[in-house]
Amino acid sequence: MTTLRMEEAAHAILARNDRGGYTVPTDRLYPFQWNWDSAFVAMGFATFDVDRAYRELERLVEGQWDDGMIPHIVFHAPSDTYFPGPDVWGTRHRVPTSGITQPPVFGMALRHVHEAALTSGMADAEARTKALFQAALRSHRWWLDARDPEGLGLVSILHPWESGSDNSPAWDEALARVPTTTTTAIRRKDTGHVDASMRPRDEDYQRFIHLVDVYRDCDWDPKRQWKKAPFKVADVQMTAILARATADLTHLAEAFGTEEDRTELAQMRRRLGDGLARRWRPHLSRFVSLDLISGADIEAPTQAGFIPLVALTLDDAQRSAVTAEIGRWLDGMAVGVPSTPAFSLAFEPKRYWRGPVWAVINWLIADGLRLNGAEDLARRIEQSTVRAIENAGFCEYFDPTTGEGLGGDTFSWTAAAYLVLGGRQ
Ligand code: GLC
Repeated sequence: MTTLRMEEAAHAILARNDRGGYTVPTDRLYPFQWNWDSAFVAMGFATFDVDRAYRELERLVEGQWDDGMIPHIVFHAPSDTYFPGPDVWGTRHRVPTSGITQPPVFGMALRHVHEAALTSGMADAEARTKALFQAALRSHRWWLDARDPEGLGLVSILHPWESGSDNSPAWDEALARVPTTTTTAIRRKDTGHVDASMRPRDEDYQRFIHLVDVYRDCDWDPKRQWKKAPFKVADVQMTAILARATADLTHLAEAFGTEEDRTELAQMRRRLGDGLARRWRPHLSRFVSLDLISGADIEAPTQAGFIPLVALTLDDAQRSAVTAEIGRWLDGMAVGVPSTPAFSLAFEPKRYWRGPVWAVINWLIADGLRLNGAEDLARRIEQSTVRAIENAGFCEYFDPTTGEGLGGDTFSWTAAAYLVLGGRQ
């Protein structure tokens, strides 16, 4: 297909997954609005329909809780093709939602959409950005209060699903401590849509649902959850995205915030930047997350170790170490960057976050490399992502060893990544 035909196909996927101002990740497998998917999708929409880009973020904010949290799923309309649905979460928001969150790409997306609106001369852009800026600021306050109560400068996930990298080897040790017992009957639907060999294992699912049971029993109160959590990881990917989004909000605050907002955002930015910088491990050439229950570094190699580049300015030694390390991960791969490298014992090229390449992760890694002056490697990763999509279609993810498209097809965020990264070629 020509680039133009591919762009039309990407638009068609977004149109097909539109459920009325919000976009489902893909039909059936993920039939609701997902938090970070929607933020990437909004940036995709901003390449051709800025009004629709704003709608995506506005509809996500309909799910925002009074305490500021933006949940990982907003169940705008019922569907019986996904488990766990609203009854399992048992939350009490006006619009049914899950009870956990996902990476706050929202602030990055808001700046992106706002700048697209300025370029296109949209009339109501100011008011729309301003309202969303307030929502984003409330959610960042929630992150620091609820998920960094001890002031580490790192925010924690209490459930692997919050990371967005559900079954990453990074969680193996921490998740192994979580019991497999559940008070909820597990009725997986995902393995009816795609092959079980690509999805998390049943045992992982039991632990995922055990965690939901624990937090539901805390009435979703952040303080009680923090005390009870059998899984608590200060995650560098999450912290980096929050820090980067904070920088983007700081930029917007010049026009939309008060003096106090600007000071508060600058403090947040410093706290998160300092916290992240302490997670650099020279012997690994990457950043590592911290298991708050065992107190140990999580050394398993995963893509998360490179995401801090979106938020930090590395020194020369760090920059050459990171670029050499990413080069090593790309070595011998048909498509990079693998979510787990081929030299790791945990590598499974077809199983979800244990090897496959994800277009939106490449988008973040390339952004971080570019911010740190590694333009050539950034372009190489962007081009190989675009080529992978042109060869295999708008799949959920790709086998790094062959480039084969896997998981769900007609995926919204893959279409968005194509539009944004393709536009940079
Ligand atoms: C999976 C992914 C997560 C994504 C969701 C919807 O759960 O791990 O990152 O948001 O699917 O696409």
